[in-house]
Amino acid sequence: MSSRLVLGIETSCDETGAAVIDETGLILGESLHSQKEVHMKTGGIIPTVAQRLHRENIGRVVQEAMERSGVTQSQLSAVATTVKPGLALSLGIGLDFSLNFVKLHQKPFIPIHHMEAHALTVRMLQPVVFPFLVLLVSGGHSLLALARGIDDFLLLGQTLDEAPGDTMDKVARRLSLIKHPKCSMISGGQAIELLARDGDRLKFLFKPPMGAHYDCNFSFAGLRNQVTMSIQKKEKEEGVEQGTLLSCVNDIAAATQHTVASHIAKRTHRAILFCKAKGLLPSCNPTLVVSGGVASNQYIRKTLKIVTDTTGLHLLCPPSKFCTDNGVMIAWNGVERLREGKGILSHTEEVNYEPK
Ligand code: KG4
Ligand code: ZN
Repeated sequence: MSSRLVLGIETSCDETGAAVIDETGLILGESLHSQKEVHMKTGGIIPTVAQRLHRENIGRVVQEAMERSGVTQSQLSAVATTVKPGLALSLGIGLDFSLNFVKLHQKPFIPIHHMEAHALTVRMLQPVVFPFLVLLVSGGHSLLALARGIDDFLLLGQTLDEAPGDTMDKVARRLSLIKHPKCSMISGGQAIELLARDGDRLKFLFKPPMGAHYDCNFSFAGLRNQVTMSIQKKEKEEGVEQGTLLSCVNDIAAATQHTVASHIAKRTHRAILFCKAKGLLPSCNPTLVVSGGVASNQYIRKTLKIVTDTTGLHLLCPPSKFCTDNGVMIAWNGVERLREGKGILSHTEEVNYEPK
């Protein structure tokens, strides 16, 4: 066991996560409680419900991670916790718990930016050197950035409205896929991917978003409107009630997935060309790292592979487990900060807690 040991705590959205890792990135113990099933039933995250579930589970989750690691509180080098961005009520639970914990055990505290943690997780798994390009696509995020250092990110583009996972979740909800025999207990995005495999994307032609915007931002709300209108039209034509369409659900899923994938690919392509033109990427082994829940979509990965193959970049998609929210990624960011001595607070310091 190496000398620096970090406890990471994540509560920014709907996962209560904790993990203890060492400075080589070895996971000594972890625990994760997902609220996704609860929120799926209510059709979206109700912040007060998320807060209550975090409050009910955080003590157990941290205790489990600690016990599984075999590390005692006194052996910890620091506690790293997500402080932004995210749902304020959810973040507050992790932060309050952590501040009490560091005071009680007199440990340094490392506030973590959730997106930076997503971006850096890959470095725990393999040696990826700065600078590298990062694409984060999930239910809550959609952004492209150039990672230049552990706390140095050049934001190249972000969503102007909603994130792609959110769009696919909403389309899946509009189609009532939760009742579909193949799709129970999986997320909307997973349901779209599954059904799309048997669909013909050419049966529905959705206009690609932001055709006339020459930047690296994203937009998915317009696509969602188009899909909703097509669903309504089909329901009317077939004389069926809302959310009971059966005939062309696979085709709608395939066309939605394709449009999301092409939009992500086009914006990523533009970001790569921009970075290359400005000399921002290394000539040796330039890399695109893709993370977030949507990054587990195989169709989207294949589409991105075409982009990286044509531009000479190396595509890295960490395994799904490390693409989604968890305590490990927060602990790893803590390790990176400890190594560089950046952003480490003593347990007596005040934390400026202002989620944006
Ligand atoms: O990263 P994540 O677990 O949570 C946050 O949003 O932060 O991502 C969950 C999102 C959901 O919107 C879900 O529908 C989407 O990622 N997702 C997918 C797939 N798996 C998860 N979207 C498309 N294809 C998938 N295979
Ligand atoms: Zn996340």
